[in-house]
Amino acid sequence: MQSPSMRRVFVTGGTGFVGRAVVQALRAEGCAVRCLVRRGSERDLRGLGAIERIEGDVMSRQSLDQGMAGCDAVIHLVGIIREHSSIGATFERVHTQGTINVLEAAAAVGARRYVHMSALGTRAGARSRYHQTKWAAEEAVRASPVPWTIFRPSIIYGRGDGFVTLLARMIQRLPVVPVIGAGRQRLQPLPVTHVAEGFVRALMLDATVKHTYDVGGPEPVTMVDLIDRVAAAMGRRRPLKVHAPLGLVRPLTAVLHRFPDYPLTPDQLLMLEEESTCEPGPFYETFGLVPISLGAGLAAMLA
Ligand SMILES: NC(=O)c1ccc[n+]([C@@H]2O[C@H](COP(=O)([O-])OP(=O)(O)OC[C@H]3O[C@@H](n4cnc5c(N)ncnc54)[C@H](OP(=O)(O)O)[C@@H]3O)[C@@H](O)[C@H]2O)c1
Repeated sequence: MQSPSMRRVFVTGGTGFVGRAVVQALRAEGCAVRCLVRRGSERDLRGLGAIERIEGDVMSRQSLDQGMAGCDAVIHLVGIIREHSSIGATFERVHTQGTINVLEAAAAVGARRYVHMSALGTRAGARSRYHQTKWAAEEAVRASPVPWTIFRPSIIYGRGDGFVTLLARMIQRLPVVPVIGAGRQRLQPLPVTHVAEGFVRALMLDATVKHTYDVGGPEPVTMVDLIDRVAAAMGRRRPLKVHAPLGLVRPLTAVLHRFPDYPLTPDQLLMLEEESTCEPGPFYETFGLVPISLGAGLAAMLA
């Protein structure tokens, strides 16, 4: 069943990679968008047109209560891949407590819909703290009285992302591309535009209430394959690779992750060691989206 349109939508994480695409998709749908923005991040919303900005933080209930007043729906995207304990940005606080704060504010203002960003691999008893705290956040969502939908994407790619862009940069600049371990673990990357469309369409589809969607592209690829596909999309030959044994990367990462330029944390390493694949059929069918092949998606991104 089709819901009445959501006139004003409150978005957290709107300044991020996925958030910018979600804001664009909401605007294309004719929704008024109000973004929660941390002080200093306002610039990241440049070019997105007429959107309301509310200064705040998911750690502050007050900023959420004030910011959400008058909104019909909430899209909660905030998440971190790296903790910054010195400023209190731990996975527990940002993922779990942040979500509880957003849910409580959404219930308090009488929001009619809530759409939540989780991640593939989120499950009870997950190995990484990223996934453990995303699971606790999901549990809070499931206990909320506000009609909810949860999305769990694999790797999301597009201009401005943190993953494929990093691979492309390594392919461009390094004589050999480092691969962690054998690089046989599989991922299912999908374009950010499809994730954004899913979030916006979920707001309108009552049938998606209380449903969780695994989200991935049409083809699982190994990390080694992905590097080759990215190179092909850049018009380059298959790059040479050097495999860094896990037995070496683990202790190095345990020490070096404290340096901001080191691109990996122990928690990310745990996730990279796992497969990130799913059966994405229900996502594409429910939201009326046609899967885009990885080759076509990467070519569009890297052209
Ligand atoms: N990218 C992927 O491949 C992928 C895959 C699966 C799931 N996800 C999930 O998707 C979500 C968005 O990911 P992304 O790639 O777009 O990340 P991103 O570019 O790092 O964006 C994160 C967003 O969260 C905001 N944020 C962080 N801490 C906050 C806080 N305490 N209060 C308010 N806002 C805060 C950031 O604001 P500032 O601009 O102020 O920093 C930014 O808008 C995350 O939940 C992530 O776990 C991403």
